[in-house]
Amino acid sequence: MATAPVSRRSAAWKLCCGALLLGLAPALSLAQPKLGDEAYQPEVGQPGKDVVWVPTPDEVVKAMLDMAQVTSKDYVVDLGSGDGKIAIAAARRGARAHGIEYNPDMVALSKRNAERAGLKNVTFVQGDIFESDFRDADVITLYLLPSLNEKLRPILLDMKPGTRVTSHQFDMGDWMPDEVRELDGRRALFWVVPAKVQGDWSVQIGTGPRAETLKLSLTQSYQKVSGRMVWGTRDAALDQPSLRGGRLVFTALDANGQRNRFEATAGHDGRMSGTVIGPNGQRRNFTATRS
Ligand SMILES: C[S@@+](CC[C@H](N)C(=O)[O-])C[C@H]1O[C@@H](n2cnc3c(N)ncnc32)[C@H](O)[C@@H]1O
Repeated sequence: MATAPVSRRSAAWKLCCGALLLGLAPALSLAQPKLGDEAYQPEVGQPGKDVVWVPTPDEVVKAMLDMAQVTSKDYVVDLGSGDGKIAIAAARRGARAHGIEYNPDMVALSKRNAERAGLKNVTFVQGDIFESDFRDADVITLYLLPSLNEKLRPILLDMKPGTRVTSHQFDMGDWMPDEVRELDGRRALFWVVPAKVQGDWSVQIGTGPRAETLKLSLTQSYQKVSGRMVWGTRDAALDQPSLRGGRLVFTALDANGQRNRFEATAGHDGRMSGTVIGPNGQRRNFTATRS
């Protein structure tokens, strides 16, 4: 069975195990997992590399996949996949699913579980989540520890805007969840990876002689944005800016003080484009680049 002897002995590791098991006590009472098969019977709380194994109860798995709105179009990756139950549940919804698990016995068990379920759209690999490439995922699922979630946070935030992330029980530090569901003492948390839009932008509305160029300044803390737009001689704060994944929406005042609604798609790559809807409902295309 795979363990990390050094971390296993360390005080920090014991603290982490204690925290997880403490946080998991209600889950243990809820969960009625099928623990292993004839070839291997894992024990709840057995050591893992960075965190012990405890399976997510079925109702929490369902809530996580519901919040992420997993469909057959998605590629779902469970980080620290244990006996494979989250990835298998995602595959049952038709998604392509994948689990990364450090313990080879658990990997073998999860493969047998998938085979018994007759699923061909789920794979498992033995590996360390901190050394694995899962950038292609549309949905990431986690049941780790707060410290591990925070260590993963910059990697998750670099994933494509709109990637959905759902965690059983533990948060992401100061990256607030978009949704939390409480389930009989357990929590399912959900985030959407926001585009990186912080900074100054030059916005061009339309083309040709009637094109207008505006200045947009955005301040961002994860999915929360605020900002200002300079439109002619008017410099005004954006009204009700919202950012979900790569979709940025806000209202700005034009030079005449009229309200214009901007609906944009933004990437991490310093590009933004979309539609601006004027006070009379007229629509014009715009593009924006970092200035
Ligand atoms: C709390 S269990 C969650 C299992 C499963 N995701 C679920 O929710 O039912 C965490 C799992 O992560 C595995 N794990 C711990 N550190 C890991 C690492 N660095 N890379 C891959 N797996 C790891 C453990 O072996 C364990 O199976």
